[in-house]
Amino acid sequence: MEHRNLSEADPEVYEALKKEISRQESESLEMIASENFVPRQILEAQGSVLTNKYCEGYPGKRYYAGCEHHDKIENLARERACKIFNAEHANVQPHSGSTANFAAYFAVLEAGDKILGPKLSHGGHLTHGHDVNFSGDLFDFEAYYINEKTEIFEKEDIIEAAEKHNPDLIVCGYSAYPREIDFEAFREAADRADALLMCDIAHISGLVAAGEHPSPFPECDIVTTTTHKSIRGARGGMILCKDKYAEAVDKAVFPYSQGGPLMHQIAGKAVCFNEALKPEFKDYSRQIKKNAQALARSLTENDVRLVSDGTDNHLVLADLRDEEITGKRAEKALEEVNIVVNKNTVPYDPESPFVTSGIRIGAPALTTRGMEEEEFKLIGEMIAERLKNPEDTEVEEKIKENVSKLLEDYPLYSDSGVKF
Ligand SMILES: Cc1ncc(COP(=O)(O)O)c(C=O)c1O
Repeated sequence: MEHRNLSEADPEVYEALKKEISRQESESLEMIASENFVPRQILEAQGSVLTNKYCEGYPGKRYYAGCEHHDKIENLARERACKIFNAEHANVQPHSGSTANFAAYFAVLEAGDKILGPKLSHGGHLTHGHDVNFSGDLFDFEAYYINEKTEIFEKEDIIEAAEKHNPDLIVCGYSAYPREIDFEAFREAADRADALLMCDIAHISGLVAAGEHPSPFPECDIVTTTTHKSIRGARGGMILCKDKYAEAVDKAVFPYSQGGPLMHQIAGKAVCFNEALKPEFKDYSRQIKKNAQALARSLTENDVRLVSDGTDNHLVLADLRDEEITGKRAEKALEEVNIVVNKNTVPYDPESPFVTSGIRIGAPALTTRGMEEEEFKLIGEMIAERLKNPEDTEVEEKIKENVSKLLEDYPLYSDSGVKF
């Protein structure tokens, strides 16, 4: 076997990788709410020889020999996850948030069972019942809705939906909801319907880990998450649960829905959880919320309306229904000035999901770069100005200059010793 530098062995992949490093480091302000930048120690774990091994099964009970060191790593990931989230059991093998949800549903339900989940255009994820996804195909989904007046998932609406539909399981947890989740309200709704309660904390897991969002335990029976969003770890998924569901969850992951675990990713998760247990991670998560709030204030002061008028977490959802711009055009206009966000439906959106009337803007990635309230205030001003002047080339040039300056002032990997 010949070992060569990537640049020599595969110049095409190397060139694309180099361009992506430059895009992340010095070309754009990353404000997609589900993205983040991982530290070097996580890249190191992910890019390691752990990728070489088959480890079907679980620590101590593998189907292959030679898993001693992988057992150590997976146990560390599981123990740290339980400690962080106050969970009785953790399964760190799901390859992604979607496969975590697949396994979590099948751990406690059968195809055809009824699930009550959020209306998708009100902040849910495809795996919460969309008909193009396995969830909508294999389960009988009914929806609960955001209250049109308060723009919050209100307790009485959830309870009413639970009593009306009598589901086997209720899902809470969202991709685009700027407010805290009221777990006690969901528990009460679940109890009224004699249903299980699952929360998908994919977006907010970093905030939960740091105590900056209420914990889904003890109210929830099963909790799923991604490990690459606000918790800032290796890309992947995880399931946390009470002990009584542990065996069913493990079987639903392997052998029901996955084969060999991605051990290099599990190592990246273990390192991420080690970081999340440090006091600095609490400071980081607190700063995410402060930054999202500074952004919310700045946008509001500059006449951009926000769904529910603000945020309790890491993201804001701008409602452009009263503006002369759709979510699709807004995403493009901001990309033209190197601010990267995504178009997003707002509750009761008259536009299709391909056009939308909103944009979702997140704080985790730029908080990782070290930006604070002052920078987020400036970013809010720039976003508002661009939304109101999407065709103005002078505005475009001015904002691009300010963006470049911010990127220079807050380097990402250039001083980190990461080798590419
Ligand atoms: C709430 C929620 N659940 C699940 C997922 C799916 O995660 P993945 O893309 O890793 O499959 C996402 C992804 O954005 C999400 O926002």
